[in-house]
Amino acid sequence: MKRKVTKAIFPVAGLGTRFLPATKSIPKEILTLVDRPLIQYAIDEARSAGIREFIFVTSRGKGALEDYFDDAPELENALRKAGKTELLETLKTTNMDSGAIAYVRQNRPMGLGHAVWCARRLVANEAFAVILTDDVIAAEKPCLQQMMEAYSETGGNMVATMEVPPEKTASYGILDVGEDMGTIVRAKGMVEKPAKDDAPSNLAVIGRYILTPKIMQNLHRLKAGTGGEIQLTDAIAEEIRQGESVYGFRFRGQRFDCGSKAGFLQATVAFALAREDLRDEFAQYLAHMTAVQKAAE
Ligand code: UTP
Repeated sequence: MKRKVTKAIFPVAGLGTRFLPATKSIPKEILTLVDRPLIQYAIDEARSAGIREFIFVTSRGKGALEDYFDDAPELENALRKAGKTELLETLKTTNMDSGAIAYVRQNRPMGLGHAVWCARRLVANEAFAVILTDDVIAAEKPCLQQMMEAYSETGGNMVATMEVPPEKTASYGILDVGEDMGTIVRAKGMVEKPAKDDAPSNLAVIGRYILTPKIMQNLHRLKAGTGGEIQLTDAIAEEIRQGESVYGFRFRGQRFDCGSKAGFLQATVAFALAREDLRDEFAQYLAHMTAVQKAAE
């Protein structure tokens, strides 16, 4: 059976405290890898996976995101007049059709699960994707597209997953693996940030999900039962307990944790080295810096 997913939620309502002071006035999602903001990578990946409706869960101070996807007639005219057609084309890749993006507010940062729940009316009765813009994935075939292809065969819920060193399990949602079929695993449980000794595996969930609309009911229940943050992991774990299928998908590609400074810097280096117009000069500079560093040790 072929299944199609056309809606994606982008939860962008977090405080982004790890990038303060920059994120005091700039949304984290506008921070750039070379010359493209994180959100652009996420939107491009979603588009190539067949997403047509983009749902942003935003918060105060995220206005720059809305402007980013709007037309920019003055800028376009200036570039057109100056004959800068290449830049004009680049600029146009950021425009979104009227009505393709919807914004809902999360009034308080009550966790990722709560942010997803805020979009419940917009996803209605359809399966949907969730993309965390912090996780940037360099891949020949975009990660969400890989997942969509697998999902069209499996249905159910699907989360992107990757192996992490045992000492890192406490930073991720971790799968309890029921059946390992290689690229796809069937989960029999999911635990949020377990310590190394409590982790059921070292398969970590990263920021790409395809979820059935029923998850909203579980999020709603969690919301009623907690005063603290509402975790998406807990709602997915609840799905498993209720007998629903949850698959982990081992994607092909390299994931960068751009929510952390080290990950963001690594992504900057990798993406700059992948650019033909920058590669040579930048590689030379990196070699020079490495030599200087070594000499100083
Ligand atoms: P993070 O855990 O990275 O939190 O959220 P954060 O606030 O963005 O950043 P730090 O930790 O303070 O530096 C993961 C994703 O979930 C979204 C974030 O915007 C990010 O995309 N999120 C998190 C929400 O939309 N709402 C929340 O209440 C929490």
